[in-house]
Amino acid sequence: MIEKIEKLKAEVAALQAHTADEVEALRIKYLSKKGALNELMADFRNVPAELKKEVGMKLNELKTLAQDRINELRDNVAVEATAGDDLDLTRTPYPIPLGTRHPLTIVKNEIVDIFSRLGFILAEGPEVEDDWHVYSSMNFADDHPARDMQDTFFVESHPDIILRSHTSSVQARVMERNQPPIRVICPGRVYRNEAISARAHCFFHQVEGLYIDKNVSFTDLKQVLLLFAQEMFGPDTKIRLRPSYFPFTEPSAEMDISCNICGGEGCSFCKHTGWVEILGCGMVDPAVLEANGIDSKEYTGYAFGMGIERITNLKYQVKDLRMFSENDTRFLDEFVSAN
Ligand code: PHE
Repeated sequence: MIEKIEKLKAEVAALQAHTADEVEALRIKYLSKKGALNELMADFRNVPAELKKEVGMKLNELKTLAQDRINELRDNVAVEATAGDDLDLTRTPYPIPLGTRHPLTIVKNEIVDIFSRLGFILAEGPEVEDDWHVYSSMNFADDHPARDMQDTFFVESHPDIILRSHTSSVQARVMERNQPPIRVICPGRVYRNEAISARAHCFFHQVEGLYIDKNVSFTDLKQVLLLFAQEMFGPDTKIRLRPSYFPFTEPSAEMDISCNICGGEGCSFCKHTGWVEILGCGMVDPAVLEANGIDSKEYTGYAFGMGIERITNLKYQVKDLRMFSENDTRFLDEFVSAN
């Protein structure tokens, strides 16, 4: 009896069918009243009592197997039938909606691209940073207001661990591990504790550049920035540098470009001045070089930093900063062609 059951099991497992009729024929052969399984059930009465348990279990297994296999064959045949019915190989495919790159990514890539053509290599670093890399190594005095709770997000219960408020921390990390010549471009997200509005957000994006070598001068800085502005905003773009202050650069400047929205004529975007500010820059303060293990008597360097949102606004005139982080696909779809 057990032998018979095992034989049937093997037979059932190997069953094949290609049409619904064939499946039905198999069902009748194995599972109907007069089918092979019921015949075995009849024999079961003659099994000696001590074997009933074992044989009964095997019979049940066989029954489940047969039912499953026949159901499976029925499903397969059904799928093949529907696929066959309306398979139209000449039909045009469904349009696949492709995503777009985020406008900030598009502009970041463009900025990085321009500087990599000038020999800058990409450097990235952590967004959760320590005070040293964000502030102390950048020559911020202990009581500098930027360290204030107003600007800096602290990781709870760790006064030393913060969300970086500028990407200068990446420069510190590059300097501590490398000796000049250093020429890096550092894009990334930064955080500042600001109330969210159309003009401010608690996170935004920056790209900073750093070049350190022998005899690097302010002229080099100015020429590189002019080239950048013209590559980014067109060959007629003019730049001007205004003296400014940053703890990590000396001398420091802010750079304006001729307003690319009105071409310098004056409009509401440039507040009718014809100029818009796009970045901060300067010669790396010798104190920063020393703090990061670079000999300031042998080397000089320049650094610059810009907000990607600002550059994007100039290119695409996005009026509300919040749109960059809302993920509204109607907004993002506007950038399909810029991808
Ligand atoms: N780190 C400055 C900021 O976040 C930008 C900057 C970088 C300015 C390098 C000068 C030189 O505002």
